[in-house]
Amino acid sequence: EKGGHEYFMLKEIEEQPEALANTLRGHFVDGRVVLDEQRLADQDLRDIDKVFVVACGSAYHSGLVAKYAIEHWCRLPVEVELASEFRYRDPVLDRDTLVVAVSQSGETADTLEAIRHAREQKARVLAVCNTNGAQIPRESDAVLYTHAGPEIGVASTKAFLAQVAANYLVGLALASARGTKYPDEVAREFAELEAMPQAVSTVLGTAPQVRELARDLATAKAVLFLGRHVGYPVALEGALKLKELAYMHAEGFAAGELKHGPIALIEEGLPVVVVMPSPKGRAVLHSKLLSNIREIQARGARTIVIAEEGDDTVRPFADHLIEIPAVPTLLQPLVSTIPLQVLAAEIARAKGYDVDKPRNLAKSVTVE
Ligand code: F6R
Repeated sequence: EKGGHEYFMLKEIEEQPEALANTLRGHFVDGRVVLDEQRLADQDLRDIDKVFVVACGSAYHSGLVAKYAIEHWCRLPVEVELASEFRYRDPVLDRDTLVVAVSQSGETADTLEAIRHAREQKARVLAVCNTNGAQIPRESDAVLYTHAGPEIGVASTKAFLAQVAANYLVGLALASARGTKYPDEVAREFAELEAMPQAVSTVLGTAPQVRELARDLATAKAVLFLGRHVGYPVALEGALKLKELAYMHAEGFAAGELKHGPIALIEEGLPVVVVMPSPKGRAVLHSKLLSNIREIQARGARTIVIAEEGDDTVRPFADHLIEIPAVPTLLQPLVSTIPLQVLAAEIARAKGYDVDKPRNLAKSVTVE
């Protein structure tokens, strides 16, 4: 059942093109992106004036990606919150607030308590969930299922990717319902999403190269991850995977924060993974990251750079270059995350750890 793999997680990493295609399937109907279940009137969606995404762990990282897309496509303010923090603050919510709860299991206690709290304040709740009929979708006003299939590995891979994709669909569904995008624009964005499973297949081809790198990094004391814009949540996710699976000290940073503190951590030989934005996207983002890589390399870091194929400007500063296919700027997390998943799994394997069942962790966290 592991499809010839030593671990379920490695199989699930390879299943990502299919998982992604399944998440998208059937969601573009008559010029609109639609949800799976909607117990709300379209007018309620049109009245929404603020969005909160609440989730934990990797699901939270998928929510951070969603912020960039939903703000851009819907012109709505979006806050992304750890469910455990959201619940015990006093968030300002009313019937025009949409709370998007992202949860693979649909049973995560922190996220469940967060939506109960939101509903008490009359907010509308939309669940993004991988498990049919779980508690969180049952207690929500609308549901989008990720359809990634069951995930056995405790560390989320294909479910995470499906959450990122489903969150884009939430953005497009809101844009459709609210009329902030014309049907032909929604169609174009959806078509770009539909091209992503192919791009994910391509990036899976980097696995042998990443495996080799992993053997090299297995003895490192710590690994840092840097990203900017949608690459920032990818950096956080890369670091979380490495903590969970390889039990290594790993931190993700917003690249712009480097000079505000983390650069003090840079020392000779420290591996730093940098997620580069496309050189064809916003030029300013790309050039800022390029100067970050220069700075850390000058201080002796070992730079591992994830960059778009053909981006030759990074070559002089990359001790190790991992090339990913060119995709639209907002969608890059769907490809840039993959090498980081492989890296963490392969470092764990090189260290002899159980990749599917990391110590101290449970697949579904049903206590607060
Ligand atoms: C990380 C991981 C966890 C989950 C988190 C939320 O690899 O698996 O961080 O993402 O526990 O779980 P769900 O999505 O089931 O609410």
